[in-house]
Amino acid sequence: MEKKPVIYSGIQPTGIITIGNYIGAMSNWLRLQDDYFCIYGIADLHALTVRQVPAEFRARALSFFAQYLACGLDPSKAVLYFQSHVPAHAELAWILNCYTYIGEMQRMTQFKEKSDKHTDNINMGLLSYPVLMAADILLYQTSLVPVGADQKQHLEITRDIAIRFNNLYSETFKVPEAYIPKQGAKIFSLQEPTAKMSKSDPDPNAAVSIIEEPDSIMRKFKRAVTDCETVVEYREDKPGVSNLLTIFSEMTGKSIEELVAEYHDTGYARFKKEVGEAVVEKFAPIRAEYNRLMDDKAYLAVVAKEGAEKAASLAARTIAKVKRKIGLVVR
Ligand code: TYM
Repeated sequence: MEKKPVIYSGIQPTGIITIGNYIGAMSNWLRLQDDYFCIYGIADLHALTVRQVPAEFRARALSFFAQYLACGLDPSKAVLYFQSHVPAHAELAWILNCYTYIGEMQRMTQFKEKSDKHTDNINMGLLSYPVLMAADILLYQTSLVPVGADQKQHLEITRDIAIRFNNLYSETFKVPEAYIPKQGAKIFSLQEPTAKMSKSDPDPNAAVSIIEEPDSIMRKFKRAVTDCETVVEYREDKPGVSNLLTIFSEMTGKSIEELVAEYHDTGYARFKKEVGEAVVEKFAPIRAEYNRLMDDKAYLAVVAKEGAEKAASLAARTIAKVKRKIGLVVR
């Protein structure tokens, strides 16, 4: 495979790409793209585990792809592509399904949450979702997977599946490590600061998108839920203020201690306004570049095609190895 260690990650094209996705995952993808061989997919097959409206789904996946580029992911450095364009993902997922136990999947937190939420559609895909994710990662002999804290369990099962397979058939997959940032691995809802910020939260004030209009960003930060004190401090019993401090720190590069020293007694109104302004400033160039890219669909199509070709040729090596090891007849 590639000389540099491989990084793999992805986002499901559901809801919006939030500041949580940006801080927990994408900002690290950007940081790592110079020193690693990075592969970032749009996990569109994963999104099929809940019902999608086809036309909206297609538009959203393309929009997410443009947002990858707009953030600064660079197709000359990283492989950027749609998961569904590389059939090896589904192929390896099927094979790995046969090496994964139903009980392991039923224990997954995300499966339990999603099956409680979509009681009318607890489909096989929802159950084996982590196996497809394992296939994504293992196909590319990945060393590191930069994700937010909510994906930790999926990374653990990926490692278990890889180790199990390697023990049965000799070294086949590299066993990947999760790369979860110390700060910002879990950004919380602006409205309910003890719950994770979710990209598909029905409350529009709970999350901001990385391509959101400045006015709307400002409004949401001014309305962000805090507490009935007035001091700006990072404390467990102040989840709203602490979350805003994390966001502020990530947007500006200043440490939480510096920000606490600066804003301790300024009052929440000014604090929240300035957090909002820092977010607007950080995301303005992303928004501008996104708008430019969405006017150039031909370019997006070329990048996606080249990305898929590169990914497919890398994936083919692992698939060939797996098929040989498990005893399928070589074509
Ligand atoms: P997804 O689409 O839910 O989220 C994308 C990435 O954003 C992180 N994240 C957060 N980080 C901090 N705070 C939050 N509130 C927050 N919400 C989400 C997630 O941890 C994730 O890194 N199953 C994956 C997509 C996927 C994938 C993969 C990831 C498919 N195949 C292979 C890594 C490797 C998912 O649903 O992420």
